[in-house]
Amino acid sequence: MEPNTRRIEEIPAVAGQVVTIQGWVTTTRSSGKIAFAVLRDGTGLCQAVFVKNALPPETWERFKDLTLECSVAVTGLAKVEPRAPGGRELEVQALTVIGPSPIDYPIQPKEHGVDFLLDNRHLWLRSQRQVALMRVRHEIEQAIHDFFYGRGFLRMDSPILTAAIGERAGLFETEYFDLGKAYLAQTGQLYGEAGAAALGRIYTFGPTFRAEKSKTRRHLTEFWMIEPEMAWYDQAMNMELQEDLIVAIVERVLDRRMEELKQLERDTSKLETVRTPFPRLDYGDAVTLVQGKGSDAKWGDDLGAEDEALIVEGRDRPVFVCNYPKEAKAFYMKENPADPRTVLCADLLAPEGYGEIIGGSQREDDLDRLVARIRHEGLPMDAYQWYLDLRRYGTFTHSGFGLGLERTVAWISGTHHIRECIPFPRLMSRIYP
Ligand code: 4AD
Ligand code: MG
Repeated sequence: MEPNTRRIEEIPAVAGQVVTIQGWVTTTRSSGKIAFAVLRDGTGLCQAVFVKNALPPETWERFKDLTLECSVAVTGLAKVEPRAPGGRELEVQALTVIGPSPIDYPIQPKEHGVDFLLDNRHLWLRSQRQVALMRVRHEIEQAIHDFFYGRGFLRMDSPILTAAIGERAGLFETEYFDLGKAYLAQTGQLYGEAGAAALGRIYTFGPTFRAEKSKTRRHLTEFWMIEPEMAWYDQAMNMELQEDLIVAIVERVLDRRMEELKQLERDTSKLETVRTPFPRLDYGDAVTLVQGKGSDAKWGDDLGAEDEALIVEGRDRPVFVCNYPKEAKAFYMKENPADPRTVLCADLLAPEGYGEIIGGSQREDDLDRLVARIRHEGLPMDAYQWYLDLRRYGTFTHSGFGLGLERTVAWISGTHHIRECIPFPRLMSRIYP
């Protein structure tokens, strides 16, 4: 590496120094005596300026080798230049082409169909919009870690291979040696509950899998979920934690990723109104509300995407829908003492029609009721003996939730389809690249 090699984002800090930038060429233009190449390195853009009279002829000559996405090392005088793309400039003194890029680079500056872009996801990731999205995703991930760290939660990693089914959505299964079938985890929650009894307050942060045959803009077969689980929290405390987390994430992105949000053309005024408290709507009232808006939803149904959109219509922040009917939700949710047809749970719906970003509940802590629910659902009792032990030995009030990372990124970044919110999306009809 050349001495004084810097990343593009560091240029303002080293303005006036001769530095080397390593990166890729995104655009070039030349006017006979002066030529420009815009470089990117993942931290930003920088305009390299080649002045014919100021350069050895062989360096000036080499400018024509700069093709879209070739990799280079460029040495020159670092400058802040508001008019340059990225606001940074390098007055070139030396140039090395490291990896040429033939002119058949698949992604050209023109409209491409989304299937073509997904087939070339490994290259599409290099484009400005995708870089901005990944940076927003990263900021959200870090905001989540910092939030929980600050509140004394332990991060607990739950297994991916499991025999205990957590949710009703489709299962990916595989033969597991002599032990029969294993499944890819749909949730880390059940293990999180064991963790809460051991450690008090935990959160998991990892990939989860659903073999759902859903081709919607908000379903992936592999998505990342954050699942906090808290001993001694009831459902009211659970929802307060969710509000605080969402507000912390939104504030963090507004604070540190304004550039990226601008690049993504996000209307940030829609995020600035996200403040606690979030409205809480009883499930029954939500059904009445959407019926009044023409939906044919009826009491007992889980609410679909269209109903969710009707519920958040005109809202400036996420909305909780609370206490769904038992049959619409998973076996582990605690029966609502005030209305035993329902369970103590809430879905958190993002504004602007981005749908459910959180599903959470207080957990059934009564052994007999839990056994009855497992039996009623026809789940294999043997696989849940360890889970039932959590009620046999020192049962405890506890609650938790699952935040879908990609749906959160989609909402905050204003991205229509969540396939762009994960580096390599796994969809029903896509496993390449
Ligand atoms: O509502 P879900 O299914 O809840 C659970 O898995 C619970 N075990 C969570 C818990 O209480 N610990 O999923 C939680 C969230 C949803 O609100 C949604 O944001 C996201 O996970 N999600 C998906 N995201 C992308 N693609 C899919 N197929 C998703 N399914 C759920
Ligand atoms: Mg859900």
